Amino acid sequence: MNQPQPILSAIWDRHSVGRLSEPAPNQEQLETIIKAGAAAPDHGHLKPWRFIVFQGDARRKFGLVLAQAMQARLERQGLTATASQIEKEQGKLLRAPLVVAVCAAIDEESSIPAIEQFAATAAACENMLLAATALEVGSMWRTGEASYDPFVKAALMLKETDMIVGWLYFGFASASLDDGRNHDGAMNTLSYWA
Ligand SMILES: Cc1cc2nc3c(=O)[nH]c(=O)nc-3n(C[C@H](O)[C@H](O)[C@H](O)COP(=O)(O)O)c2cc1C
Repeated sequence: MNQPQPILSAIWDRHSVGRLSEPAPNQEQLETIIKAGAAAPDHGHLKPWRFIVFQGDARRKFGLVLAQAMQARLERQGLTATASQIEKEQGKLLRAPLVVAVCAAIDEESSIPAIEQFAATAAACENMLLAATALEVGSMWRTGEASYDPFVKAALMLKETDMIVGWLYFGFASASLDDGRNHDGAMNTLSYWA
């Protein structure tokens, strides 16, 4: 039997790691991950993706933006954030040594629908997770309310119609990236139209 393609190993091995520690991916690994993102299928070749990296103290500084945005969201609902909610929001990007906000800069003049520009950027996210797995870098795709908050988008220099498709967390995973799962159940989702 032929050797399995390495891409399939990465697909089977990829899984989320909630707490990632140092080291962050090095520059070469980061470039490979970003290029893998930019190799995603892209209707109209619009290159809608924007990659914004947070590492070191930038993660804590942007945490202040996240916390301020969260407080404002709660205030709009007539609620007040507790100290522990603020602390949790501030610390979100500290759950990995390197985080990439993967954003879709939507071209509203294009004949390509916005949802397809979003889809291309989502495909970029998955490519990035797979590239990380192939490099033995742990990863996780997160979103959350901040992803849809105009205040957070503005802090990233995005337009309101742009989208934050994912906060991709990268770092060292202490356990093996192969978690022994199989995906045999996928066959239950298959049907043949006839
Ligand atoms: C668009 C998107 C957003 C997600 N956002 C979150 C999130 O904010 N928090 C979270 O715990 N999991 C989130 N997930 C799910 C995890 O990334 C993960 O895929 C899921 O828990 C399944 O685990 P696995 O990656 O190990 O297969 C998100 C997944 C996608 C595709």
